[in-house]
Amino acid sequence: MGKIKLTINNRVVEAEDGQTVLEVARENGIHIPTLCYLKDLTGTGACRVCQVEIEGARTLCAACVYPVREGLVVKTHSVRALEARKNVVELIVSNHSKDCLSCIRNTNCELQRLCQELGVREDAYAGNKTPSTFDEVSPGIVRDTSKCVLCGRCVAACKKIQGLGILGFMDRGFKTKVGPVYDRSFNDVNCMQCGQCINVCPVGALHEKEEIHDVINAINDPHKHVIVQT
Ligand code: SF4
Ligand code: SF4
Ligand code: FES
Repeated sequence: MGKIKLTINNRVVEAEDGQTVLEVARENGIHIPTLCYLKDLTGTGACRVCQVEIEGARTLCAACVYPVREGLVVKTHSVRALEARKNVVELIVSNHSKDCLSCIRNTNCELQRLCQELGVREDAYAGNKTPSTFDEVSPGIVRDTSKCVLCGRCVAACKKIQGLGILGFMDRGFKTKVGPVYDRSFNDVNCMQCGQCINVCPVGALHEKEEIHDVINAINDPHKHVIVQT
């Protein structure tokens, strides 16, 4: 693949043919926010958080899937792109539990970071919420769809890293959910509790089952001999 030249934010940069706008921007120290994107794992352009303006294109384009070409002119932080990104995040937030204070991902959450970066300060689209599923039956994984942003990263990780394909999208439109088939519990499907889905989830929709209090109680129980294995 040959070298090509394009312009990002008035700067001429070099790229390899076949790269995406996001990859080239990152290589050149230009930050474009993302949510569904994970290198080598997802490439669906599902969330539209990475929208940028491409000269000559009628609509904004998802930088994570848009291929570069010779002479392309990109604006990553035009008013139009910034407003569109903020709008996308506001829509996600409108269907989110916003349970931050007691959430396991509080202060380490990609949705929180996006709200901070894009200046989301109000519930712009308050209204109905998708009925959610809370599953804490399995030994290791908790699933709370009220916090799911439908990024699809867990679906890709289960299929491509672990080779199992237990997770998928179900229903459509406002009712869309991600999880094991027919919205079953992780306990009722062929899940091996590897946790790859948890590793890639950007929010608190999937997390490990905490047993820290059981451990503390066991350590403090004078009648118990406690062995720790790390
Ligand atoms: S997932 Fe993030 S935004 Fe949602 S409740 Fe948890 S910390 Fe807050
Ligand atoms: S559970 Fe997490 S990784 Fe899976 S789609 Fe929802 S937010 Fe994305
Ligand atoms: S990060 Fe590009 S569409 Fe989601």
